[in-house]
Amino acid sequence: MSPIAVPVNKTYKIATMGADGIGPEVISAGVEVLKTLESAAGDFKLEFQDYDWSSETYKKTGKYIPDGGLESLKKHDAILFGAVGAPDVPDHISLWGLRLAICQPLQQYANVRPTKIFRGTESPLRNASPGSLDWVIIRENSEGEYAGQGGRSHKGHPWETATEVSIFTRHAVERIMRFAFETARKRPRKLLTVVTKSNAQRNGMVLWDEVAAEIANEFPDVTTDKMLVDAMTCRMVLKPESLDTIVATNLHADILSDLAAALAGSIGIAPTSNLDPTREHPSMFEPIHGSAFDITGKGIANPVATFWTAAEMLSWLGEEAAAQRLLECVERVCEKGIKTTDLGGSANTAQVTAAVCDEIRASYSRK
Ligand code: NAI
Ligand code: MG
Repeated sequence: MSPIAVPVNKTYKIATMGADGIGPEVISAGVEVLKTLESAAGDFKLEFQDYDWSSETYKKTGKYIPDGGLESLKKHDAILFGAVGAPDVPDHISLWGLRLAICQPLQQYANVRPTKIFRGTESPLRNASPGSLDWVIIRENSEGEYAGQGGRSHKGHPWETATEVSIFTRHAVERIMRFAFETARKRPRKLLTVVTKSNAQRNGMVLWDEVAAEIANEFPDVTTDKMLVDAMTCRMVLKPESLDTIVATNLHADILSDLAAALAGSIGIAPTSNLDPTREHPSMFEPIHGSAFDITGKGIANPVATFWTAAEMLSWLGEEAAAQRLLECVERVCEKGIKTTDLGGSANTAQVTAAVCDEIRASYSRK
């Protein structure tokens, strides 16, 4: 007789890194919500390990990532990241010292940024309501305008020169296009918009367009169209319902996704995933927003972006049901009007977090 299958609890090792500004505030809220979900769901386990890498450690030690740090990060199944950036460290030092220093070597080449209008929240667009703006922006995350190539010469002279070279390789464009088409295929509308600037940038962006057209042949069930990035900003504002999945370069998608977050109501709700789709390395999940110096330490940061980020992380780990349950609970809390000031409410971080935890417990007790 074969033994009766006993459900085995899956355990996921999560590295947490709040880093700077409101990062630690929203990450601790995220961990609280995840622990509540873990105990309410009861069919998976999360093991958290905190890393104190931040601009503070950089100022003390001269390094954001200590020697051997990346190797220890690789032992985790996922990384939950807050934000990096401090008023007294130049932004290019902090970004390249920590966030890009993780994304690039771990080959997290696909940056995924879903955006939608939550029930109970308002878009600044007059006619937009939940359902009329529901997008996934796929951002190339390994090269393009942020490849890190270029240099400065003749520093301080009137003839000082600086170059920032955009790099587009067939290898990286193919893999991000394939990922974008696969994402579009999984969504009901099967619609992919390829953002470009190949009218003005006649090398890298033309390769980008050509590869997009080639990969499109592998996905005859996905409808595609092409938009110049400047015209894309107008379409996002004027016809949000005409868009679904969007693929763009590192720089273009960086800018468009902040616009997307604002159109959905606030940068305080927008999540992002830095994925290694090969799963050779752990992927990193973070709210889109930065350190938000103006509200740091006040306890009013919106934790919803981190909750949605946590849901994206669970979904990537294979806990789709728990991920959907979490997102539904967050939306219900918004609907009840328990919102931070950026969404027009008056609740603080702790109150929103407590309300989401209550909603999770209530949701599982109904199951
Ligand atoms: P930011 O996202 O930190 O702040 C922009 C505005 O949005 C501020 O008024 C802020 O209060 C508000 N905001 C952001 N998150 C919020 C939240 N959860 N709840 C309520 N309001 C929120 O962008 P900013 O000011 O351009 O950058 C500040 C620092 O963060 C810089 O050092 C920058 O380099 C860094 N940064 C880091 C990122 C990362 O780690 N991935 C991403 C963006 C910026
Ligand atoms: Mg950005």
